[in-house]
Amino acid sequence: MTKPTVYVTRRIPDEGLDLLRETCEVRVWEGSLPPAREVLLREVADAAGVLTMLSDRVDAAFFDAAPTLQVVSNYAVGFDNIDVPEATRRGIPVGNTPGVLTGTTADLAFALLMAAARRIVEGAQYVQSGAWKTWGPMTLLGQDVHGATLGIVGMGRIGQAMARRGRGFDMRVLYSGGQPDEQMEAEQVELDDLLRQSDFVSLHVPLTPKTRGLIGARELALMKPTAILINTARGPIVDSAALHDALANGTIAYAALDVTDPEPIPPDDPLLALDNCLIIPHLGSASHATRGKMARMAAENLLAGLRGERLPTCVNPGVYGDQARAACDD
Ligand code: DGY
Repeated sequence: MTKPTVYVTRRIPDEGLDLLRETCEVRVWEGSLPPAREVLLREVADAAGVLTMLSDRVDAAFFDAAPTLQVVSNYAVGFDNIDVPEATRRGIPVGNTPGVLTGTTADLAFALLMAAARRIVEGAQYVQSGAWKTWGPMTLLGQDVHGATLGIVGMGRIGQAMARRGRGFDMRVLYSGGQPDEQMEAEQVELDDLLRQSDFVSLHVPLTPKTRGLIGARELALMKPTAILINTARGPIVDSAALHDALANGTIAYAALDVTDPEPIPPDDPLLALDNCLIIPHLGSASHATRGKMARMAAENLLAGLRGERLPTCVNPGVYGDQARAACDD
């Protein structure tokens, strides 16, 4: 029996590839950059399944180029790179990787919070540059994390995990959107109140038409001048130009971003010239263990789709004729 052809758009951990290779003919794009659009469209021409990254645009043209496609499996919890209604119209199930990256992403969000509050990156640069001549009573003073107010925008899985970390550091936790888990001490407030009251604002909503530009000039102006914004969700949730102005004018104190708009951020982007903006390259889920689990989960979704079975985590259950909630709320 001929094995179905699967295209994997970047090298992922073996936990996923080995599983796929047991029953499929697997072609992996080995480039260090994503395949160019024309390459992607060419490569999917004979594929029964495609395992995509968040950097691949999966839209009508993609589906047109893949006439034998049975399933798309995204190697991410977010799926804003995929035109899901179009996939559903064509009867193609789409999978994602919720749950397995929750703690890892929240760890990184909290690491950014700590780094921003206690000026870790500036401290390291200070030492590396030879500026450290003596202990300084006024050197690189930062902000306390314990006792401060943490505002979580989007209390889905990752938002809840971030809230637990905040509570572990004796923070007061506010949130807007979603639900806290039962035992968590966290207060639900309107977004505007959260922005006014929080010392740290951490974003954990998915990118949708409703959340695009959610944090713009008006929202930034509501925040405290000492506030720190953390974004580990998606870049376009924040209006980059407005953020630049807010940081440059002292409307807020600092931003720590794991995600930007666009990605990667161009080297001449004005945000990179600010010393109160820390940017890292979308590392939220980037631990060895978690990327292995994501690879396995993405492979399992893909294999289920090829067998004609329901995907374990499907973002468009409408393909099965039901309206169950999509497997992503963060
Ligand atoms: C996701 O999964 O959506 C993250 O942004 C990358 O792991």
